[in-house]
Amino acid sequence: MRRILITGCHGLLGQKLVELLDREFCELLGIDVHSASYFPTRRAYTYHQLDLTNRSETIELVQRIQPSAIVNTAAITNVDACEYEREACWKINTTAVESLVKAARLAGSRLVQLSSDYVFDGEAGPYSEFDRPNPISYYGKSKHASENAVLGGGIDGVIVRTVVLYGHGRKLKPSFVSWLVERLRARRDVKIVTDQISNTTLVDDLAAAIRRILELGRTGIYHVAGREILSRFEFAMKVAKVYRLSDVYIQPTLTTLLGQKAPRPLQSGLVVDKAQDDLGLTFRNAEEQLFAFREQEAMLN
Ligand SMILES: NC(=O)c1ccc[n+]([C@@H]2O[C@H](COP(=O)([O-])OP(=O)(O)OC[C@H]3O[C@@H](n4cnc5c(N)ncnc54)[C@H](OP(=O)(O)O)[C@@H]3O)[C@@H](O)[C@H]2O)c1
Repeated sequence: MRRILITGCHGLLGQKLVELLDREFCELLGIDVHSASYFPTRRAYTYHQLDLTNRSETIELVQRIQPSAIVNTAAITNVDACEYEREACWKINTTAVESLVKAARLAGSRLVQLSSDYVFDGEAGPYSEFDRPNPISYYGKSKHASENAVLGGGIDGVIVRTVVLYGHGRKLKPSFVSWLVERLRARRDVKIVTDQISNTTLVDDLAAAIRRILELGRTGIYHVAGREILSRFEFAMKVAKVYRLSDVYIQPTLTTLLGQKAPRPLQSGLVVDKAQDDLGLTFRNAEEQLFAFREQEAMLN
């Protein structure tokens, strides 16, 4: 039976993977920094508290577990914070991945590493798996270096790049969609950029693609995201429509006017044809994903 280790199992994607990968598919283990498991009653699931920046403990634990596959979702995902907390960013986003590569090599594990459209410069997106990365932010550089560590690490490595991820889960930082819905419900103005173009991704579709990658034993690079590419402003208007909220509070603006610390890839987005064809999946468009997200919210309440 497969034994799968999810690192960052309390994050947005980590939680969805724990939910999706069931007992019939694999034996499941999780790692995160928190003292107690978010899934204390889940059967056939083992939680380990570990800071992945501790290299020796990471290698020792993976050696003990001997997973057939590791899915590394752990990261600092706040791209602005990565600009002023560079050391912390590099430690988890890159150095910890180098430790996991070594651990995977010793244990003979496949390693699935999550990455981002931020490895591209946003000059000429959408990008395919064959396009050349050229990150413009520190976060993007840290993710690109992690990709290189996995692809050059002498292991069965997979890079899964995704973009603008959202979904439900416990104790999560607000995603763009949940932040926007809250603001629109409170009838508060929001300024949304018209010049950042990309796909958006409901976490369920990403988790389903990773499950398929594990099932088929794939290696290499995969772009996984919602299949529609649109501006953040157009996406915000769709959020208002799906939630039946007034869009008069959504004001268009430009990225340069926001004064964000990290540079953003503007004309970005990921071409998902390879993942759809090779994994036999059809990713949903923006509205389909938003309707599913809204339905899930209704079931949670
Ligand atoms: N979110 C997006 O829009 C997006 C877009 C493109 C790519 N990605 C990539 O997709 C992956 C998953 O993203 P996500 O949104 O699911 O991330 P997330 O919600 O921030 O989850 C990451 C998890 O890793 C944990 N973690 C952080 N540092 C750790 C450490 N040193 N040791 C062990 N665990 C640690 C975090 O704990 P704390 O929360 O307590 O720190 C959190 O539970 C990441 O690799 C990210 O770079 C995300």
